[in-house]
Amino acid sequence: MGGSKRFQSRAGREVNRDSFIGEWPETGLIVTDSPYDPAPSVAIHDGRIVEMDGRPEAEFDILDRFIALHAIDVAIAEAAMATDSTALARMLVDVHAPRTAVVRMFAGLTPAKIVEVIRSLNVVEMMMALQKMRARRTPSNQAHVTNRRENPALLAADAAEAVERGFAELETTVGVARYAPLNALAVLIGSATGRGAALTQCAVEESLGLRLALLGLTSYAETLSVYGTEKAFRDGDDTPWSKAFLASAYASRGIKVRFTSGTGSEALMGHAEARSMLYLETRCLMAIRGAGSQGVQNGSISCIALPESLPGGVRGVLAENLIAALLDLEVASGNDAMASHSSIRKAAKLMLQFLPGADFVFSGYSVMPRQDNLFGGGNFDADDLDDYNILQRDMQADGGLRPAREPEVLEVRHRAALAVQAVFEELALPPVSGAEVEAAVRAYSSEDMPERNVVADLEAAGEFLRRGRNGVDVIRALARRGFRDIAEKILTVQKLRVSGDYLQTSALVLPGGRVLSAINDPNDYQGPGTGYRLSAERAAEIDAIPQALDPRAIGAEPAYPPLRLDEIGDAAAGDHPREIVIAVGPAFGGTLQATLLGLPHARVLEALIQGVEEDGLTARVVKIRHTSDCGFIGHAGAQLSGSGIAIGIQSKGTTVIHRRDLEPLDNLELFPQAPNLTLDSYRVIGRNAAKYAKREPVLPVPVQIDNLARLKYIVRTTILHLKETEQVDPARPPQEVRARHA
Ligand code: 5AD
Ligand code: CA
Repeated sequence: MGGSKRFQSRAGREVNRDSFIGEWPETGLIVTDSPYDPAPSVAIHDGRIVEMDGRPEAEFDILDRFIALHAIDVAIAEAAMATDSTALARMLVDVHAPRTAVVRMFAGLTPAKIVEVIRSLNVVEMMMALQKMRARRTPSNQAHVTNRRENPALLAADAAEAVERGFAELETTVGVARYAPLNALAVLIGSATGRGAALTQCAVEESLGLRLALLGLTSYAETLSVYGTEKAFRDGDDTPWSKAFLASAYASRGIKVRFTSGTGSEALMGHAEARSMLYLETRCLMAIRGAGSQGVQNGSISCIALPESLPGGVRGVLAENLIAALLDLEVASGNDAMASHSSIRKAAKLMLQFLPGADFVFSGYSVMPRQDNLFGGGNFDADDLDDYNILQRDMQADGGLRPAREPEVLEVRHRAALAVQAVFEELALPPVSGAEVEAAVRAYSSEDMPERNVVADLEAAGEFLRRGRNGVDVIRALARRGFRDIAEKILTVQKLRVSGDYLQTSALVLPGGRVLSAINDPNDYQGPGTGYRLSAERAAEIDAIPQALDPRAIGAEPAYPPLRLDEIGDAAAGDHPREIVIAVGPAFGGTLQATLLGLPHARVLEALIQGVEEDGLTARVVKIRHTSDCGFIGHAGAQLSGSGIAIGIQSKGTTVIHRRDLEPLDNLELFPQAPNLTLDSYRVIGRNAAKYAKREPVLPVPVQIDNLARLKYIVRTTILHLKETEQVDPARPPQEVRARHA
């Protein structure tokens, strides 16, 4: 019998290229609620945690120990742990419970208790909680800036465009590790070209990453990965202490630090110890808190497709973002790595962080096309930027970006590429050619870039590090070559690094060099009227997408040839049986000059008349002034027609064939979808009207059905109809007209 063709069609859809599995708790392939997750408990002796989640101190693994020592506030632990989990969960959605009170309670909870609290929330409640609990009041966004050819001009141009589009942090990485200093340099220059100065980082092996930061080539770091089991940690030659030490090294030089964690990594490494992903991630987050980091990028990150293969995976990812916020960590909430083949599924998942807002909605939005994203392709990329801006506008939600116009984008891209060219020359790096600069401005991807001499670049990159070239060298080079503004902005960020701890706690640098952070912009959400709201300026910025037309200008476009229908007196009833009246709407050949499809009224009228005359009848044009309704226009025309047959046509092109004796809203033929009507269709309409007058058999005019016509034309329809209706004069009878084609 064979299968269903609908099942077959669905099988070919993008979502069915994603992987799905059932749960398998023994291996950690379960998002929440593993039967092997421990029950919450705590015992404190002499100000020291001696039992946690059912484990006595003697059996603590390195994570238990680190968490017990550094991540739980023993002053509040007993009281917090004794609070009913449902009561704690309700605090999260209770607008009367301020963020600070929630943070204080959660500082006293064990991992198992936190999981128990979160378990009772559905995603809407989690979103409400994230809206209240994220650290910074104003949401923002982070970009990925990389390319396959590691072209410095393109990196700088993409970085500059990213900042123009509102990204507050830029993360680059390398295909070939040795490129790191040059990529960091290019992104640094781009990050300070144009309207703002974003923080930058280069994701590479840890000691090199630290070195680049200390040299002032980057200003934040987030490559400090943690895992929820001891074995997973050990596989990376790390402990929570070693990570804490690394974090301190960065922070001691004023470099903004956040860690990386996320559900799924332990199961992926085969070290989940039968615990649920969320329970292990909670341990990670507590270790991060204990290490003194100000923040985390989580939301599964590189592992995202694994939780998404399981029931509740997307909910679990929101839960881990929320837990980070509950632990008072700045959250860069994932959405970076490719999560699905399906754009429906990708967009739906994004909403969980986008709508409540996160410190950084993306841990890395790919501002390049997917093929150039060296983080393994982005979940959203350059091609999705318009969608993203439109989502912000639809929801009046701040996702951290702003619509950018092409001329401004081209300008900042050009300047960034020129600045890189100049700095490379000043620092005796391999030249960036004029052709590279030009290509970088307009490129879609690095495929459009001339090839560079990779051997020379890599040698120069090594030499750059050996000589200890640093941020000050870059600043000097820029200033020498006429890029003082860029130099000054890079210097500003360097000063923020060293003059105080400005860059910690969810900091970003605003255009003008002011810092916005959880210190001077703390999230104070407590229900409607509080927390982050779009300012009038920000709303206007989000609303002003370049695609948005001025509605007043729609329909005012000139048409060629123009048509002037002069009214020469009240129209009388005709008595010639071979006469067809063509009754046009009040704005036809007047304030409006073309149909919805853009057909000039002059041509449309010509086609109708030609059709009538081809069948041996004569046409008389009258203008209806008392109504803009198509049926009534046709009906009024028919009352004046010698044959009793009339064609009624609105200015937007909607047409009816009417007969004197029919009710106004009845008709012989109606063509309600003007976009489907061509000049040929109008000719056939004229011919059919003539055939009706001669009482000959008539084949209805064939029209194509376009289901998307309404979507495409509804705005124009509305405005053209509005303009037609403006011309209505209820007291004015139908008018005889004379056409002037001038
Ligand atoms: N947990 C911990 N670290 C992660 N990374 C990515 N996803 C996770 C995760 N779920 C790290 C990778 C890589 C960088 C992109 O972040 O190890 O270094
Ligand atoms: Ca990132």
